[in-house]
Amino acid sequence: MRDILAQIETLIESPPQDPAERLALYNAAKKLLVAVEDPFETIHRVNGSPMILTFSWVASNLGIFEKLAKSNTPLRGASIAASAKADPELTSRILRFLASHDLIAETAEDTFTANPVSHSLARPGFRSGLSHSFNVLNPCLQATPKFLEDTGYANPTDVLHSPFQIAFQTDKPAFGWAVEHPEIMANFQTWMREWHDNTKATWLDVFDFAAHAKGSTPETLLFVDVAGGHGQQCALLKMVHPQIPGRFVLEDLPSVVPHAKVVNGVEKLGFDLWAEQPLKGARIYYIRNILHDYPDDKAIAIIKNILPAMSPDSLLIIDDGIIPKVGATATATHIDMTMMSALAATERTERQWDALLDKSGMKIIQKSTFEPSRAQSIIVAVPK
Ligand SMILES: C[S@@+](CC[C@H](N)C(=O)[O-])C[C@H]1O[C@@H](n2cnc3c(N)ncnc32)[C@H](O)[C@@H]1O
Repeated sequence: MRDILAQIETLIESPPQDPAERLALYNAAKKLLVAVEDPFETIHRVNGSPMILTFSWVASNLGIFEKLAKSNTPLRGASIAASAKADPELTSRILRFLASHDLIAETAEDTFTANPVSHSLARPGFRSGLSHSFNVLNPCLQATPKFLEDTGYANPTDVLHSPFQIAFQTDKPAFGWAVEHPEIMANFQTWMREWHDNTKATWLDVFDFAAHAKGSTPETLLFVDVAGGHGQQCALLKMVHPQIPGRFVLEDLPSVVPHAKVVNGVEKLGFDLWAEQPLKGARIYYIRNILHDYPDDKAIAIIKNILPAMSPDSLLIIDDGIIPKVGATATATHIDMTMMSALAATERTERQWDALLDKSGMKIIQKSTFEPSRAQSIIVAVPK
């Protein structure tokens, strides 16, 4: 046992850098935690999980993660309280809570320092993620049990009738409501940008873009990012393939595209997912994490709006989760529950994607998972 503990200490000091080794160890550590915890530790872990979000959000509002991350030396509770203009006793209680969940490290009595988790939570994009989860998703989760009871535990598939409408007392679909709350929409975009900009694996690892772009000229409509948010994919392509000529277009809501990244050679176009695709004959229509925002009827409508624009050498590339038959990760199932509670939507299994594409008039020619931890994959399809 002493040897095992020493090995664990060594791993804590220098965790593996190889992605596959890291994931294997992460999964094993999770199983170990469950194997060794007693029933009361289990119930406190489960009962306490909403507190982790609540007090991480409070800590973020007090600038605790940022202050610790910026400091080269451990900080006393009183000094953090003074700079946050908060009560010292309250601040110490919050700090102690954060340390007990390893969100920060305790070095001595009422003295704390940043650990790798604090450094992550100090990032502005992660603060946006905390804000989105606390202020938007959490109210939906609170409304979910009663909603499911009231609807006889039917799978939510109506964008106008989900826990979101109960939580926010609205008759609008979530994205329609969000457009009217620009600060929430802007925060959500920052969170999406942080999430995707910092993911190392991308669809370009499993799709030969250069081969599909072969023979393009500056006039060739090469790549349309359908509802592409702040334009990370056009930026990625321009970075990876700066020499490939062609038009790269970011499409999103007219209110969103002005805030997108400005990248040389990338056009921006305000458009509406619910209207026919305005750009005809693109080599690639790419759509990431959009179809999982909608139940099947709406997802089919989105694809059918792209279909008439496709020419014989057009591809539709769907970049989205494919939930594996067994062993879905917690990250993938978290996204699935988010889709259910906030959007009456779903992450899809391979079988569900096959059925969806078939009903949309599309034939699948490639499916590849490139980010197993959240099941992120591409589905490449052409009209039947
Ligand atoms: C989950 S985000 C995904 C953004 C981007 N594809 C990505 O992967 O980062 C959903 C996007 O859909 C856009 N959107 C929502 N409703 C839309 C509509 N009716 N027309 C066009 N874009 C829409 C939002 O502005 C947002 O950028």
